[in-house]
Amino acid sequence: SLPVPSVQSIADDSKNCSEILEKYVIPEINDSLVLNGAAAGPGDFPIIDFSRLCKQSEEEIAKLSLACEDWSYFMLINHGVPDEVIENTKVAIIEFFRLPLEEKKVYARRPDTGFEGYTQTCVISEEQEVVSGEGHILYTRTVAGRNMKLWPQNPPTFRDAMDQYTKEIQRVANIVLESIGKSLKLDKLIDNFKDCQQSIRINYYPPCPHASNVLGLNPHTDTVGLTVVLQVNEVDGLQFKKNGVWLPISPVPGALIVNSGDIIEIMSNGKYKSLEHRAVVNSEQERFSIATFHSPRADAQIGPLPAETPTKSEPFCYKTVSIEDYFRMVFAHKDDGKNI
Ligand code: SIN
Ligand code: FE2
Repeated sequence: SLPVPSVQSIADDSKNCSEILEKYVIPEINDSLVLNGAAAGPGDFPIIDFSRLCKQSEEEIAKLSLACEDWSYFMLINHGVPDEVIENTKVAIIEFFRLPLEEKKVYARRPDTGFEGYTQTCVISEEQEVVSGEGHILYTRTVAGRNMKLWPQNPPTFRDAMDQYTKEIQRVANIVLESIGKSLKLDKLIDNFKDCQQSIRINYYPPCPHASNVLGLNPHTDTVGLTVVLQVNEVDGLQFKKNGVWLPISPVPGALIVNSGDIIEIMSNGKYKSLEHRAVVNSEQERFSIATFHSPRADAQIGPLPAETPTKSEPFCYKTVSIEDYFRMVFAHKDDGKNI
């Protein structure tokens, strides 16, 4: 008896429905492309030791460089985010999604909330409507730029938990971004991400009877610079595409999942590619996650950065635009701003 909003409760509420429902598509899932487990097992999947990045270990920075070039994804261990902060975050996320639909809808994304707000993703299959995912996006940094009207007050611990968690993740992201800049010998990259902007998307994927042909999150690349994902419960779902094959990333207790996004790809002039990923759903188990996104500060330019010491003249593969224009252009093309 999971407190998932039933299909009926959504269908009955047709007036408000359009405000929160995102999609009416059945994506194609080609399961023959999914390699289960082995290829993304602990043996090959990059694991980066954050405590060594803090000490500016050249060896660890070299590992990071390989991870970014070959995988775009890596596990981050020894990140130092206190257990208590992680635990409070998990509880707050689960309790928020457990609220009745009516309460969550108070925070629904609307034209005046921009990319922020609560949404549901629905699919219709054989004339049946199912909720394949719920998400709530909040802008968390700069602190002065937060829209507190969209920050849930229930559970009462939510705001504090997210405030503490996102500050911890910011600390971690700063060091990872600094190390990425060092690995590319691009001081300007480090500079662009000083005072960076941060947002979160918390996700809930209810158990889905049509799991084999429904996705929780459609394939996308992250338009931001750096994403840090915490798998809230130990259920598989996140997959990324490497060499044309979807690979699952199984939750590793205590580790954070980090991936570089489109902005790092652009700034590195294509050296660190941003990979497509998606979330699948499970027929029996529910899944929760939180993704924390980091973008350059508001006055940064988005474009390839010239190397500190140019070795050869390398043509730039991307245009340079203001960050404002960048997001405007991207959201015009990508899924109505959902996939930040
Ligand atoms: C997730 O793991 O559920 C989220 C992945 C993403 O933000 O793309
Ligand atoms: Fe993503």
